[in-house]
Amino acid sequence: MAEIQAVRWDEEALVLLDQTKLPSQEIDFVAHTVDEVVDAVDRLVVRGAPALGAVGAFGVVVAMDQGARESWTAERLSQQILRIRNARPTAVNLAWGVDRVQPFAEQGRDEVLTQAHQIVVEDTAANRKLSELGADWILQRTGASKLRVLTHCNTGALATTGWGTALGVIRELHERGALDVVYVDETRPLLQGARLTAWELEREGINYRVQADGAAASTILRGLVDFAIIGADRIARNGDSANKIGSVGVALACQAGGIPFMVAAPSSTVDLDTASGEEIEIELRDGAEVTQLAGVNIAPVGAQGFNPAFDVTPAKYISAIVTEKCVVEPKDSPDVSALVNGVNK
Ligand code: MRU
Repeated sequence: MAEIQAVRWDEEALVLLDQTKLPSQEIDFVAHTVDEVVDAVDRLVVRGAPALGAVGAFGVVVAMDQGARESWTAERLSQQILRIRNARPTAVNLAWGVDRVQPFAEQGRDEVLTQAHQIVVEDTAANRKLSELGADWILQRTGASKLRVLTHCNTGALATTGWGTALGVIRELHERGALDVVYVDETRPLLQGARLTAWELEREGINYRVQADGAAASTILRGLVDFAIIGADRIARNGDSANKIGSVGVALACQAGGIPFMVAAPSSTVDLDTASGEEIEIELRDGAEVTQLAGVNIAPVGAQGFNPAFDVTPAKYISAIVTEKCVVEPKDSPDVSALVNGVNK
């Protein structure tokens, strides 16, 4: 089966698989303008930190093309690129993708496009590598031959440029014949687990169960899983990791249950300029996403929602963080720079 492509460049436009429509419809969203890119990021047509990195990079090309069509000044172009860079605050990859290609603008939009394509190639390769390293670590740590795993949110091909991060490790274990079952947290309020992760696992023929987020701690404490694994939106220098709201609860339950809790991300998600989780901006989204379900009120009319989109898991609750460079166990490393720079040999 063809690999899912959440983000691609086609026919002079950015083409996104519209994740707001999954799993019932597979429809593309085409972005020719900065407004369309910002709207897609804001509404989670495209989401997941590494996918947002690619969108940031291709978004610069969209802005340059629009600027050429509409004769923008250099200042207007910079402002519009900044709008893309700031469209969501928590995942560092979005700004990273913009910053990585912008210096090539002097060499023309074709060079920026080449660099954006290069990000896609590198991200997919990084995901494959970190999946191998993560699977090796978990098999060694647990000593199990058939693993039962819990995951939160969506970290698969949909959330990246290909293969996936935490879901990539799960796919790797499946390919090695070392996977029993995946417990998929539904991931309220936008249901990335129930809608997107389940869709990917179904396509892959991987055995899974969707559970309410509120079931996660109990599933762990009842001994039904061997480890939990999640992705990240930003990993601070001390290892504190921001991810989808609900992640820290999973980590605490793993700590209480005595099972490993792993974070998997490409090195582009590690932000060494951020000292600790306290400095990570947490996106606060519209409360209506919580008080409504698929546009239907589930709370009394007038109820106010509280909707932080992410939380931060302190490094002390994380057994291991894996990138394509290496695996770091935060308890041994108050500074996780090796996740970006590799381990000195
Ligand atoms: O709000 P989302 O869907 O963009 O949140 C995504 C997550 O929290 C993912 O776990 C994270 O970006 C890692 S994706 C490989």
